[in-house]
Amino acid sequence: MKLKIAVLPGDGIGPEIVAQALEAAKAVCKKFGHELVYREALVGAAAIDAAGNPYPPETHALCMDSDAVLFGAIGSPKYDNDPLAKVRPEQGLLAMRKQLGLYANIRPVTTFPSLIHKSPLRTDLVAGADFMCIRELTGGIYFGRPQGRSEDGETAYDTCVYTVEEIERIIRLAYGYALKRRKKLTVVDKANVLCTSRLWREVAQKLEKEYPEVETEYMFVDNAAMQLIQWPKRFDVMVTENMFGDILTDEASVITGSLGMLPSASIGVHTSVFEPIHGSYPQAAGKDIANPLATILSVALMFEYAFDLQAEAEAVRKAVDASLAEKIVTEDIAAGGKAYKTSEVGKRITDYLY
Ligand code: IPM
Ligand code: MG
Repeated sequence: MKLKIAVLPGDGIGPEIVAQALEAAKAVCKKFGHELVYREALVGAAAIDAAGNPYPPETHALCMDSDAVLFGAIGSPKYDNDPLAKVRPEQGLLAMRKQLGLYANIRPVTTFPSLIHKSPLRTDLVAGADFMCIRELTGGIYFGRPQGRSEDGETAYDTCVYTVEEIERIIRLAYGYALKRRKKLTVVDKANVLCTSRLWREVAQKLEKEYPEVETEYMFVDNAAMQLIQWPKRFDVMVTENMFGDILTDEASVITGSLGMLPSASIGVHTSVFEPIHGSYPQAAGKDIANPLATILSVALMFEYAFDLQAEAEAVRKAVDASLAEKIVTEDIAAGGKAYKTSEVGKRITDYLY
C-alpha cells in the first residue's frame, strides 16, 4: 500500500521527536512492504518566522493532498509573554483543525505497568485504567464569535457556540467507540450553568435512545475533574466540548505516569492529524532529551486510524513496550536509571522494528 503523509514538525522539540517517529514509520513500512511517501511543511512559530503565517496555505495544501498528517508540537516562549502579539503559533494549530474539519480529538489513556510508579496517584487507583477522551475540536469557546476587546480596552469577551449538528456528530462518534469498548459513555458538561451545555445534554439524551446497549451517564465537568483522579477506572469513553476536553485531557494524561507517553488522533472531514498530546517543551529543544514515545505511539494510531493497518500499529506498540522493558528511555521516565537520548530511544525502536 502507498502511504502519503505530510510531516509537520513545528516548534521546540517537535523536529526531534518527529524525526524519530518518522524513522519508526519508515521501518514499519519497509517491514510490511508499504511505500511511504512523505513531505515536510512549516507550522507554528517556525512558519511565522519563515512566512509570517502560522499555518501557511502551502502547508494546508500539502495536508489536503496527504492521507495523514504527522504533527510534532507548536508554541514558542517568544510569543507566550506578549499578550499583544498579533499572530501566535497556536493559531496555526487552530487554523489547521478548522480548515481540515477535525472535529474530534481522540486521546486514549492507558497505563504502562513499568511507569505506574511515576503516577501522582496510588498504584491501586491507576493500574489497569484504560479509557478514551473524545474532545470536540472545532467549536465552542475556541472558535465562537464575537471574540475580542471593547474599544476602550476595558472589557474582553469570548463566546461559546454549539449547534445541534456539531454536538450530534461528536456524540455519535463517541457512541461508536463505546460500542467497540466496554459500552459506557460519560457525557461531560456544565448543564447546571451553561446554555450550550444544556443543548449538549438535550442532544445526547435524544441520541441515547438509539444506543440502548451503551450505558450513558451525564456528569458536570467539575465533578468529572474530581472523579478522574479519585477513581479513573470508572471511565470507558468520555465525550465533551472543546475547552473542557482540553483541560480534562491534560489532567488525564498525567494519571498514567507521564505526559510524554500519550498520543492523539484528530479526525473529521479531511485528512486526519496524529500528534503527541504534550507541547513543544522549548527548554529541551535541540538537546536530544525529549521523550519521543508519544509521537511514535501517534504513528501507531496513524496506521490504525488513517490506513486501517492493525498489525503495523501493533508492531509499533510492541517496539515501544520492548524499549520500556529494557529501560531504554529518556530522562523523564528513567526514574533514577540511565537516561537515554531521544535519538537513542528512537534507534532502539527502529532496530526492533526492522
Ligand atoms: C492542545 C493544546 C492546544 C489547545 C493549544 C496549543 C492551542 O493545548 O492540543 O490540547 O488548547 O487545543
Ligand atoms: Mg491542551
